[in-house]
Amino acid sequence: MSKRFPPLSHKCPRILHGGDYNPDQWRHTPEIWDEDMRLMKLAGCNAMSVGIFAWSALEPSEGRFEFDWLDQIMDKLADNGIYVVLGTPSGSKPAWMSHAYPEVCRVNPDGTRQPHRVRHNHCRTSPVYREKCQMINRKLAERYGDHPALLLWHVSNEYNGGDCHCEHCYQAFREWLKKRYNYDLEKLNYAYWSSFWSHTFPDWDYIEPIDSTMHGLMLDWARFKTEQTIDFFNAEIAPLKEVAPDIPVTTNFMTACSTLDYWAFAKAVDIVSWDSYPAWHETDDDSAEAARTALVHDMNRSMKGGKPFMLMESVPSIPTRDCIKKRKKPGMHYLSSLQAIAHGSDTVQYFQWRKSRGCKEKFHGAVVDHAGTEHTRVFREVSELGQALAELDEVAGTTVSPEVALIQDYQNDWGLDFGARVFLGENVKYREECLAHYRPFWEAGVPVDIIDQTCALDQYQLVIAPMSYMLRPGFAERIRNYVYQGGTVVLTYWSGVVDETDLCLLGGTPGGGLREVFGVWEEESQNYFPEESVLIGAKDNNSLGMEGTYNAVDICSVIHAEGAEVLAEYEEDYFAGSPALTKNDYGSGKAYYMACRNQADFLREFYNRLMVDRSIQSVLKAELPEGVTAQKRTDGDTAYIFVMNFNETEKNIELDAAYTDILTGKTTASTATLGGYGVMVLKDRAQS
Ligand code: GLA
Ligand code: ZN
Repeated sequence: MSKRFPPLSHKCPRILHGGDYNPDQWRHTPEIWDEDMRLMKLAGCNAMSVGIFAWSALEPSEGRFEFDWLDQIMDKLADNGIYVVLGTPSGSKPAWMSHAYPEVCRVNPDGTRQPHRVRHNHCRTSPVYREKCQMINRKLAERYGDHPALLLWHVSNEYNGGDCHCEHCYQAFREWLKKRYNYDLEKLNYAYWSSFWSHTFPDWDYIEPIDSTMHGLMLDWARFKTEQTIDFFNAEIAPLKEVAPDIPVTTNFMTACSTLDYWAFAKAVDIVSWDSYPAWHETDDDSAEAARTALVHDMNRSMKGGKPFMLMESVPSIPTRDCIKKRKKPGMHYLSSLQAIAHGSDTVQYFQWRKSRGCKEKFHGAVVDHAGTEHTRVFREVSELGQALAELDEVAGTTVSPEVALIQDYQNDWGLDFGARVFLGENVKYREECLAHYRPFWEAGVPVDIIDQTCALDQYQLVIAPMSYMLRPGFAERIRNYVYQGGTVVLTYWSGVVDETDLCLLGGTPGGGLREVFGVWEEESQNYFPEESVLIGAKDNNSLGMEGTYNAVDICSVIHAEGAEVLAEYEEDYFAGSPALTKNDYGSGKAYYMACRNQADFLREFYNRLMVDRSIQSVLKAELPEGVTAQKRTDGDTAYIFVMNFNETEKNIELDAAYTDILTGKTTASTATLGGYGVMVLKDRAQS
């Protein structure tokens, strides 16, 4: 059965290639615009993101609009067969606005208003800002909604969860709380455990989200900021949807943004897109960074049920970050771009097309450098990639269908950060822990969905939920049902500790009924300093077939088996002889509990055994050398297996059959050689 998603836009059913293009910075040199058109075609670009920070070029003073330059650019791009991802300009407000309407600027916790400066710092509640955004967006939609070049809307830029402590935001927060707590202040006070330190709120109007010791309050503030950002986004897109209903909308998510719950946000966009800036070559081994990036690609794909996403920004050479960064070595641009496609992106786009002449990003990597020529290494590599992407158009719309899901939940991340850090300190490392559990699958060439606690679990063979400290409503129940009906779940130490407002669950950890599902009780937990470790050993004849001894680090919990089988135990410290890894049969499924933080050797051994147990196989029947991974996109009929070598040196791979590499059009030998940073895309019939 063929399962293909429709193209991102019917206007251009291809893999998109292009990037942020700022012709507004070059209005005084139109000959550069013409040169841009020539160079874009030469580089194999078919989509440019225009106007993202162009508010002051579009509306230089209040009510005075200048669209001529954008008219010309839209027409030029259309004439050259290039589509436009058109920006709405709210990411950076014009100076006249901040001065005429100070309320558009954010307010600090101490009540002082921020001056006009930098960007991404507007108040998300200000009625004036919302009105101004709607007005400029309506004008853009009316003027360009039917333009042949218009492909998608790029709404604003990199929304963030930064605070605004203005009266508009506080009033909106209090109204949001009233609804959440059914207008029952006592209920809110109980949820926040506010009698601690006499912090009881006698009036809704006294609630201010400035007390980091009140974890429940800070969690609600974080939730409110996400919902208010989505509300702002919905206000921004209203005129776009009204005037140009057929043009999809997206907004670019970030890797590092943990202040917005993107799962909630993803529901509001038509297409998920994100900006990827890995730190390549900072160590001798790029595979750690490759796995880290792969996880975020997987999350962006998972957020809309496998629908292809957009790699909205990436750098063709080197970003500028006020610190030492390394240029991509020859080949890495090609590899890292195809890595995004392998994990489900239907685009490769850059920040930026042409380097600006001044300000913060004048040295940030770009396809076109200040020399203004195509005779650079970067331009050649971008063009080479452009040719490769044209060969991959048939991959657009296919998806990845993993049997494994890893739960990395934003709200749990906040919970750990506000609530568990008081005990765990810098040992929290939630996202690092998720990555450590993801890595063995990446190494084995087994695709993984990255989901959150609200997602359905039934389609997976294996679900991994590291450090599920906070149990969001319904999650424990979903885990219980999933295991009962035959699923396999891995949970770790510090799971099932608190509810949504960070109130500790009573009656033993893991709470919420999970103690029974996993057959363990976690009594207490010990923190370790970086130089310390605790020896653990697999038990003889354990049913998973685990072998060996390992060093656990950072956190070891003391757990008691209450019916679960002990697979490994501690061999050191005061709790030597107690369980370090357990398995409980519950219903027709299996529930594993890992009591301590383990390192790569343990996780590799454990998950390789579990993969065998669950009959989960690599997408390629081949032994993958270290630093080489394989990922698969498919429509159910045809499979595209991306084999990627993140080593600088070449690697041989013994294939089970001869395949066609669609990048070269050649048939592979039974021993395929991948050059340093090499990639193959092997075309095959889908297995199932
Ligand atoms: C972000 C922004 C871009 C640009 C790049 C630089 O991703 O969206 O406007 O500033 O960073 O890396
Ligand atoms: Zn505000």
